[in-house]
Amino acid sequence: MKPTHCPPRHVDWASGTLRGEPLIRKTTRLGALAGVFADEHAWRQGDPELAVYTVEMFDSPSGEGELYTGVTHLNPGRVGDEFFMTRGHFHARREQGEVYFGLRGEGFLLLQDEQGQTRLEKVAAGSVHIIPGNTAHRLINTGTEILSALAVWPTTAGHDYASLAGGFAKRITTHNLQLMAKEVQNG
Ligand code: PA5
Ligand code: NI
Repeated sequence: MKPTHCPPRHVDWASGTLRGEPLIRKTTRLGALAGVFADEHAWRQGDPELAVYTVEMFDSPSGEGELYTGVTHLNPGRVGDEFFMTRGHFHARREQGEVYFGLRGEGFLLLQDEQGQTRLEKVAAGSVHIIPGNTAHRLINTGTEILSALAVWPTTAGHDYASLAGGFAKRITTHNLQLMAKEVQNG
């Protein structure tokens, strides 16, 4: 007798495209990222409708112990001399972690603990990033292609953006084609 099975959900490893239901899709546009980039003048000059990143995720039940799986597709681009990045967040349930897997493109995962200590991990196809609890996280695309990363996190984690309203303590910029990491206070 043939084994019976449920058709699995699917991720295309090369592009990060998800297939399966129910699928949620949300695009964050430049206009929604007020206060995120250091150069406010450059941000205001940009097209507010420009897509900066899209998150696709499989919807999941919301109870304790359940997991979301999603992919962030972060476009290449800059605001002033600063690379496109996600807003970044702590989890509302601070103790809950997350795992990111690089799929394509190149960039960094910026991690910051509650004391404001930062570290960068290089994101590329095949990279694995274990984000512990109590650690804010943000993706930064330093390349010329889309940066896509798969993530798995508890459905109960939630997002706390407000605690980082003043910005992360590190910014990644480019100057004369060189990548620069700048420590900053108050974002
Ligand atoms: O769960 C995550 O950490 C990711 O799916 C992010 O939510 C995604 O990268 C978008 O970033 P942000 O929520 O900071 O806008
Ligand atoms: Ni998260």
